[in-house]
Amino acid sequence: MTAFPLQVRGAFARHAADYEGQAALQRGIAWRLARLCRNLPPPPPDAPRADLGAGSGLLSRALLHHCPALGERPLQQLDLCPELLARNPLTTSGTAPLVWDLNSGLPAALEQAGLLVSSFALQWLEAPARELERWGRALAPSGWLAVAVPVRGSFPQWHQAAAAAGVPCTALELPDADDLIQALHSAGLPPALHQRLRFSRPARSGLATLRRLRDLGAGSSRKAPLSPSQLRRLLRHWPPGAPLSWDVLLLVGGRIG
Ligand SMILES: C[S@@+](CC[C@H](N)C(=O)[O-])C[C@H]1O[C@@H](n2cnc3c(N)ncnc32)[C@H](O)[C@@H]1O
Repeated sequence: MTAFPLQVRGAFARHAADYEGQAALQRGIAWRLARLCRNLPPPPPDAPRADLGAGSGLLSRALLHHCPALGERPLQQLDLCPELLARNPLTTSGTAPLVWDLNSGLPAALEQAGLLVSSFALQWLEAPARELERWGRALAPSGWLAVAVPVRGSFPQWHQAAAAAGVPCTALELPDADDLIQALHSAGLPPALHQRLRFSRPARSGLATLRRLRDLGAGSSRKAPLSPSQLRRLLRHWPPGAPLSWDVLLLVGGRIG
């Protein structure tokens, strides 16, 4: 495993106990994506199903609420971080959880999948558009894919504060929404639905925003951390009380049976 996935796994592992307490946005997005899946035709009954980057299972639990028929064949809970999977209640009732690095594509057992879902995980991969295309190609006829992912255009307040302070912006680089939509087309799955939504999370200060991301386990960056003096400069240029905005892409696509 290369250095960045190890960093990501370590950060989520250290904060696994706090994840659900901090994950209001992720819970809301999981709920919204699951609602969008309510009226989809049922996936092929015998094909495997999985939640990719399932973590503590927020999306799969929301799906079971909105689409109770999915309960007859549980979604495999797959994630890089065993500590989060250990807190996932679905790992004791469904198929065995799988610790897996999605940078290596999907496990062979998920080829010809009936349902692949993922929320807030794709952005952590080395090549999100390439992996999304692989996920699309892995679907069986009549199979479905439903994904939520934060995209480029998020965190304008952070980028502006860093530019004004003259320091690097250490926010995670997020995938481009159009590249992801194109990836689904390339996999032969024109999205049945795509929505791009902006959410703003209120925050007392820049420091409170950065701490919240850290406490979620989502503080990893491909850039070197700021020095203490760079961090002080950044925070001086962060508008007091500015919320942090996230642009989130919701994508649902299916393979014609
Ligand atoms: C923000 S959490 C989202 C978890 C869950 N889907 C949710 O909506 O609450 C991101 C998840 O992606 C997982 N993840 C990050 N990189 C991964 C990788 N390379 N392979 C598999 N999972 C990964 C993390 O371990 C973490 O559980």
